Amino acid sequence: MPNYYNPFINRPLLFLVIILCSLFILSESQSFVYNGFNNSNLVRAGATIIKPSGALRLTNNSHNVIGHAFHPTPIPIFFNNASSFTTYFVFQIVPSTLNTDGGFGLAFTLSPSPQFPGAAPGHLLGIFNPSNNGNPSNHIFAVEFDTVDGHNETSDTYGNHIGININGMNSTASDSATYYVDGTHNRKEEVWLEKEGPIQAWIDYDGVKKVVNVTICPLRVAKPVRPLLSEPIDLSLYLEKNMYAGFSAATGEKSSSHYILGWSFRLNGIADPLDPSQLPVVPVEKSSRSTNKVKKVLIATFSVVVFILLGALVSLLFYRRVIMKFELLEDWELDCPRRFGYKDLHKATKGFKESEKIGAGGFGSVYKGVLPATGVEVAVKKIMSNNPLQGMREFAAEIESLGRLRHKNLVNLQGWCKHKNGLLLVYDYVSNGSLDSLLYNSKNGNYLTWEQRFNIVKGVASGLLYLHEEWEQVVIHRDVKSSNVLIDHDMNARLGDFGLARLYDHGKNSHTTHVVGTIGYIAPELTRTGKASKSSDVFAYGILLLEVACGRPPIKYELDRNVILVDWVLECMKMGNIFEAVDAKLNSMYVTEEMELVLGLGLLCSHPKPEARPTMRQVVKYLNADEMLPMLDKLSPAGSRRADEITSRFLALGLTDSITTTTSYHSSSIGMISCSSFDSGR
Ligand SMILES: *[C@@H]1O[C@H](CO)[C@@H](O)[C@H](O)[C@H]1NC(C)=O
Ligand SMILES: *[C@@H]1O[C@H](CO)[C@@H](O)[C@H](O)[C@H]1NC(C)=O
Ligand SMILES: *[C@@H]1O[C@H](CO)[C@@H](O)[C@H](O)[C@H]1NC(C)=O
Ligand SMILES: *[C@@H]1O[C@H](CO)[C@@H](O)[C@H](O)[C@H]1NC(C)=O
Ligand SMILES: *[C@@H]1O[C@H](CO)[C@@H](O)[C@H](O)[C@H]1NC(C)=O
Ligand SMILES: *[C@@H]1O[C@H](CO)[C@@H](O)[C@H](O)[C@H]1NC(C)=O
Repeated sequence: MPNYYNPFINRPLLFLVIILCSLFILSESQSFVYNGFNNSNLVRAGATIIKPSGALRLTNNSHNVIGHAFHPTPIPIFFNNASSFTTYFVFQIVPSTLNTDGGFGLAFTLSPSPQFPGAAPGHLLGIFNPSNNGNPSNHIFAVEFDTVDGHNETSDTYGNHIGININGMNSTASDSATYYVDGTHNRKEEVWLEKEGPIQAWIDYDGVKKVVNVTICPLRVAKPVRPLLSEPIDLSLYLEKNMYAGFSAATGEKSSSHYILGWSFRLNGIADPLDPSQLPVVPVEKSSRSTNKVKKVLIATFSVVVFILLGALVSLLFYRRVIMKFELLEDWELDCPRRFGYKDLHKATKGFKESEKIGAGGFGSVYKGVLPATGVEVAVKKIMSNNPLQGMREFAAEIESLGRLRHKNLVNLQGWCKHKNGLLLVYDYVSNGSLDSLLYNSKNGNYLTWEQRFNIVKGVASGLLYLHEEWEQVVIHRDVKSSNVLIDHDMNARLGDFGLARLYDHGKNSHTTHVVGTIGYIAPELTRTGKASKSSDVFAYGILLLEVACGRPPIKYELDRNVILVDWVLECMKMGNIFEAVDAKLNSMYVTEEMELVLGLGLLCSHPKPEARPTMRQVVKYLNADEMLPMLDKLSPAGSRRADEITSRFLALGLTDSITTTTSYHSSSIGMISCSSFDSGR
């Protein structure tokens, strides 16, 4: 059929265009934006003034004052009953004295008139008076930001609160001044109206759905996805066609200065953003008027003394910094791109403040930090040593090289810094803490699910495979264990602490004489030969698999003896039901085939004979079901013998005697570098 113009087909389109045009004309759009104010912008009344900086001050610090500021022309808000509006403003409340609470508050107000005859200060916020408070003929909509207890203790109880008020101070909806940190969880952060500094607020009214949303947050935070208040209200029932928009504020027995720094408004659309760089800054209020001569002299003397002290301090700091620079930097250090400045790390961790500490272990502490230059979150591990570090130059070369390792299942090493006798290692910050803490401690009563656990062991396998085979050099981890596996925001595993690993070129064997690792994860041949290998990492990974499936540490002191996890799983298998060993905290919620695979693979990897263990590449294939695991029943006849073998090995070394409590294995490592010291968390 030829394609020709058909007026009948296009007629509905024409209608749509006409309807849209008429809607556009009907729903009048009006908007304004003030990044700071000047004398020609607003209608003002009461104590309101505009400071030279452009800040609008509604009230000063005196008691019982009122201030109003309104957009000069009325806005035809309810020209039609489906009109919407949005408004966005930045305000700041400065209490009269530093350490006492101020009052009372300010309110965004829509009112038929910019005059409020007889309005009272205090909790009525200069909008209502005691006789018209609550009267439906007010036609007033106000969103209050109140810093004193609500006037009605029974229905308005928060001091630091936000309320939606219609025709009176009895809030239709209210909540403490907070904001939702993210859209999906209920986690809220408090906003202290008087202490926070500049605060942003959004008031959005949807005239079709009839919903009022109110959102606040500090100026430094982006608009929260979820509004604090989202209240179904049909404003067209209460308000008039033309309304004045503006602000009212009042003080009472308690007082604060109330400032608006910027404001934007739009009818039937999204209010324009404000430009934070253009917003005025709240001026410092003068506290005292009567300065007499004596005071002036005192101040002058004091200033001179302070000036001299400051000068001395500055030159001392300068001297120290120059001296320290010479002391710290050797020339080889200068060509290490991954070297961080001590000053930056000191600043990032707020001076290694106790509150920033997220983990501690035998060798030092781990601090959370934010790099000042980039704002990137990092974990800084501080390794202290009583003696100057030996072989720093070689070690730095090694770290430079480790720093180039990049994999999604590794806690990437970003860099390092030498300071006096200590060494600082800078890692990615991983938010959910370590696997062992998630396995043994519930998070709000929830333990890791099987799906999460299976994903975690797959992630660890993929990280280890990268270290063993996929990078330019072979990296032996040497300390695979649950406390070295960190869990990120998306519950993916990140293997950490390969700072312990020594590098080996492909094909070469290790010549070290130190045994490094953690009891319970050390392959039997390692205690004999002291030679770490890919296969001793596989052994430790096998123990980790069993640990994750069984929810038990590798060695647990129980009923006066040390129960070795591998033996226990083998015992369950001998008794005919390997699933007896499964973590009871899973409540039998797991995929049988996957569980069988993980337990079987755990036993295979932790086989006492290194030759019998698979490589990490095979492990990954088994976990991805690309290859079938050799049948479990083939393992079982050897099982009982293996168990005895392992037990006797430990006994022969006398290691079991040194383990006395269920938790001590966490912190006991043997060899030159310990254990669970990198433990990221909250
Ligand atoms: C006052 O502000 C308005 C817009 O906010 C601007 O157009 C006007 O030029 C300003 N007037 C003065 C005197 O600065
Ligand atoms: C605060 O404003 C009121 C009303 O404008 C005025 O009477 C009072 O003197 C002011 N107080 C101070 C400390 O400036
Ligand atoms: C708007 O008001 C008219 C009558 O004035 C009514 O028929 C219509 O349903 C109202 N629309 C809405 C969305 O409330
Ligand atoms: C406070 O509110 C309650 C209802 O929530 C009401 O019964 C009481 O009269 C109110 N008190 C005042 C002083 O308005
Ligand atoms: C205050 O509002 C509540 C509902 O939010 C209502 O139950 C109460 O009667 C109101 N009190 C006054 C005095 O208006
Ligand atoms: C009000 O908040 C609700 C809930 O978050 C949201 O679905 C809605 O889109 C918001 N409406 C406006 C006008 O912002």
